[in-house]
Amino acid sequence: MEGRRVTLCAMPSRNVIVIDHPVIQTKLTELRDFATESRKFRALLNEIASLMVYEVTRDWPTRPRLVQTPLEKMTGCMLARPITLVPILRAGLGMADGVLRLLPDARLGHLGVRRDEVTLQPIAYYQKLPPDIASTEVLLIDPMLATGGSGSAAISYLKQAGVTSMRFVCLVAAPEGIHALHSHHPEVPVYCAAIDRQLNEKGYICPGLGDAGDRLFGT
Ligand code: PRP
Ligand code: URA
Repeated sequence: MEGRRVTLCAMPSRNVIVIDHPVIQTKLTELRDFATESRKFRALLNEIASLMVYEVTRDWPTRPRLVQTPLEKMTGCMLARPITLVPILRAGLGMADGVLRLLPDARLGHLGVRRDEVTLQPIAYYQKLPPDIASTEVLLIDPMLATGGSGSAAISYLKQAGVTSMRFVCLVAAPEGIHALHSHHPEVPVYCAAIDRQLNEKGYICPGLGDAGDRLFGT
């Protein structure tokens, strides 16, 4: 669409949407700055998450809703399906309030997944999802998509829970992580604010923003 600051990437995967809006890019650059302390980091992460919601939900289905204005009746519209927001703990929590600001009626599920620091393999340690999650639109949120292990594990769990419609929303993605996630789950769209160059030997995204959970929580 002309004028939209959204890039549909041909590489590394077709199902990746980079939201390159200048306001988001400005905030992301501040977030990357190593001098940005936890308090500001938390605020920026939530602000970017809020801004991303517009593009992530742009083609969600709506249904008609009759409304009485002060002057007359008219048929408006509303989102057709309920929404479930699923942050991947811990760092995904840093985006939750920002998304909820735009989608306050969403229910919340939680998936605890952490990377083993040596093997970089995902370790799932907590799951709590709304019972009717299968009939909802799901936004899975985590600021970082690095090796793709945590995201892929979370998506597999959601599929086991019956979820058929979900989007993965992150801030910074590595090409390796996108490739890995889409080799397991090619149909799940990945929305991000940037695709960075590569992973380093410790599995960190370069240039990236460091350890999102540690910067968010001051650990
Ligand atoms: C970070 C991040 C992702 C994961 C990405 O979490 O929030 O969940 O790493 O890496 P991957 O794509 O290689 O799996 P981390 O494991 O550091 O846990 P934390 O959020 O509790 O700090
Ligand atoms: N997790 C993070 O928080 N940062 C990275 O760069 C990679 C994984």
